[in-house]
Amino acid sequence: MERTQLTTSANLTREEVDFFMEEAERLRGKNTEDLKGKVVATVFLEPSTRTRLSFETAAHRLGSSVITIADPKTSSVTKGETLADTIRVVDKYADIIVMRHPTSGAAEEAINYTDKPFLNAGDGPNQHPTQSLLDIYTIKREVGGIDGKTIAFIGDLKYGRTVHSLTYILCLYNPKKVIYISPNELRVPEKYIQMLKDKGIEFEETNDLDAKMPEIDVVYMTRIQQERFESEAEYVKLKGSYIMTPETVKLGKESLRILHPLPRVDEITPEVDDMIQSACFRQVENGVYMRMALLKNLSKNYYK
Ligand code: NCD
Repeated sequence: MERTQLTTSANLTREEVDFFMEEAERLRGKNTEDLKGKVVATVFLEPSTRTRLSFETAAHRLGSSVITIADPKTSSVTKGETLADTIRVVDKYADIIVMRHPTSGAAEEAINYTDKPFLNAGDGPNQHPTQSLLDIYTIKREVGGIDGKTIAFIGDLKYGRTVHSLTYILCLYNPKKVIYISPNELRVPEKYIQMLKDKGIEFEETNDLDAKMPEIDVVYMTRIQQERFESEAEYVKLKGSYIMTPETVKLGKESLRILHPLPRVDEITPEVDDMIQSACFRQVENGVYMRMALLKNLSKNYYK
């Protein structure tokens, strides 16, 4: 495996995804020296709690040190510095770069300015590949895998980059069915539907969550992405479209599992957290091990 950069889930192979999941499992609960002497830069030009902190936790657990831009307001980006210059500079300081950016395509642009190990930690509404790898790893641990399972995405499927990245990964396997449940205004972009058609994977688009609950194995809830909306009024109209309550959970199979990339606003009520079906905080922990697997191996492929 020769990968050193990860900007999108679109070019991951099934072999790579399986390998990263095995590595995450091997690194579970461990502290290693795989990145001893290395510096990881986390460049976050958009808000984050989990993605930045889990990457930094992963980096520390692999023995590296970390430098960070946690807020664009404290960086020269606010003085008008271009993405190109920011990346050229970080390339001179760090051995591995993790970047989050508000613009679709920013990760693809950034790798024009560095050949070092680079990981996209979310580029606008486009892609969030490391999240989708921790999501698939969580699905594997919770329900045994994707093959033969029905996966439902719920909420903001238009702007939710985690939905887009995970759809690419599902297409590497043989799910029974993929269901997209959203308001009409927030349907998943057509290119993802086209991809499922091309791969011959059964799918459905609907507005009705309750009706679908009995057939779902994995629910993937998402937040309505307020920051991507043109107007506040449009957001307010769609806010609260789908709320997972204990009553909704009880419509589903006992083996149902509920994932959410977090942060949640109101789409899963706190009472659901105590139900075995809720895997959200186990998913958070899995994120550290998956990011350890990614940092370790992308770095290993580059610093041979
Ligand atoms: C997601 C993101 O940033 O895309 N969060 C995350 O990385 N865990 C989802 C979201 O912000 O709704």
